[in-house]
Amino acid sequence: MNTCENISKCSFNGIEFKNCILNASGCLCTDKKELQSLYISKCGGFVSKSCSIEKRDGNPEHPRYFETDNGTINSMGLPNMGYMYYVNLIKDFTEKPYIISVASNYLFENLDILLYIQETSSFPQLVEINVSCPNIPGKEQLGYNFNELDKFLNRLSTYKESLPNLIIGLKLPPYFDPAHFHRLRDILNPYIDNNIIKFLTAINSIGNALIIDSVKESPVIKPKNGLGGLGGDYIKPTAISNIWQLYNIFEDRIPIIGCGGIKDGNDVFDHILCGASLVQIGSQLMKEGPECFARINKELIEIMNDKNYSNISEFRGKLKK
Ligand code: DHB
Repeated sequence: MNTCENISKCSFNGIEFKNCILNASGCLCTDKKELQSLYISKCGGFVSKSCSIEKRDGNPEHPRYFETDNGTINSMGLPNMGYMYYVNLIKDFTEKPYIISVASNYLFENLDILLYIQETSSFPQLVEINVSCPNIPGKEQLGYNFNELDKFLNRLSTYKESLPNLIIGLKLPPYFDPAHFHRLRDILNPYIDNNIIKFLTAINSIGNALIIDSVKESPVIKPKNGLGGLGGDYIKPTAISNIWQLYNIFEDRIPIIGCGGIKDGNDVFDHILCGASLVQIGSQLMKEGPECFARINKELIEIMNDKNYSNISEFRGKLKK
């Protein structure tokens, strides 16, 4: 039996991940202490909290995060330390891929964040632009406004020559109709062809869900009248459907990071089978802590050994039709 940890490794846009399992942005990645705990954990790479230009405290009403047996709901409202904090940590995290997540809400007016990342990084730097934050009152998710998404990408493309070190991807919201995937394909195709967008992360939480406490007759979280982003078991079928549809639409032209409802090795296997190259863990990381990475990686390797796979590329996107 091959117990080598490395059979779940992945080369992604030329960057080597020792295993394919990362945290999802937003989970245990808001300050240096949390990021350090990811850095020293068994994750293959890690992602920062989505950042804005200025530091933000997030939505003022608490609780803004709640766990059930089947998943989580949150309406944090983008609490973060401001982009410089996360970019200045690049120099401390040289031994493992560190992905900077940037909230698109603010980038639209101001692409300075990307220029600052470029100035700070002497190596290729992965950047996940989050076009799917559901929790800012009054701000729509850019990923659901296709015209604005196209305008944003068009503006981003004018900066291409100024951002040679950046490997930019998009964190997408879940889509629920094949027509929306076709529209997304038509919009993204030119930016993929021109190497502006080099990976896709799917999916962010299912936005504006409602979990209620029937005894108290009230929502379990406070901001936005109880509406928040759903994660965990609730969303795995939606997540792998989105990954599978993106994989079929774009084939091998762009790698996908799978996210949504992963709590064990079998869930990772399913995400990869539907087309993911790397995966991210959100709700389960919040529940279990960074120890989840070693456990889940071990479970994935056991499944791969049972099935005689020695590399994740042998089953990636191989879901039977
Ligand atoms: C937050 C939630 C998200 O799902 C996201 O993509 C970005 C930010 C938040 O509420 O902090």
